[in-house]
Amino acid sequence: MNISILYHSESGNTESVAEIIEKGCLKVKEVKTKVMSIEEVDIEFVNSSQAIILGSPTYTGDISWQMKSFLDRNKKINYKDKLGAVFATENFIGGGADSALLTLISHLLVKGMIVYSAGASEGKPYTHFGAVCIQAGNKNQKERAEIFGERISKKTVELFS
Ligand SMILES: Cc1cc2nc3c(=O)[nH]c(=O)nc-3n(C[C@H](O)[C@H](O)[C@H](O)COP(=O)(O)O)c2cc1C
Repeated sequence: MNISILYHSESGNTESVAEIIEKGCLKVKEVKTKVMSIEEVDIEFVNSSQAIILGSPTYTGDISWQMKSFLDRNKKINYKDKLGAVFATENFIGGGADSALLTLISHLLVKGMIVYSAGASEGKPYTHFGAVCIQAGNKNQKERAEIFGERISKKTVELFS
């Protein structure tokens, strides 16, 4: 079972959160992961993945233009019928990460993915639309990101094994 974690990151925050999410994913023994910048994607691994987790910094209350460009232009990735999940970083509470998550989710839906976040269904910590960290995250945000990764991993195994 493979999970790809694709992120855009200029100053390292979103990359750090991607690595925390990977740690959570790897708590499920059947799962292999690969964390990739959108600038260096292993297409073969992504297309062999049952789940793709996308992460973006928040730019002006939305996803970064680099992530938008990647999602619009990269035609090599087959998203169809895979599990999709999202995360974002921002500098300020209320800085727009939720809007960024919803933009990512709309891309996943249009690409034919099965979108999942666990939301409030697994109890606390709630993961709502996806994982959010202020910059690289404080202790609570990092813990939540790790649990988010584990939840996505468990759902991937539940759906695809
Ligand atoms: C052009 C630009 C616009 C940004 N807009 C917002 C914003 O609207 N709200 C916010 O909270 N942070 C904003 N930020 C801060 C980034 O979302 C935040 O620092 C993020 O963690 C950067 O991720 P990175 O280190 O992975 O590049 C902005 C940063 C840049 C460069």
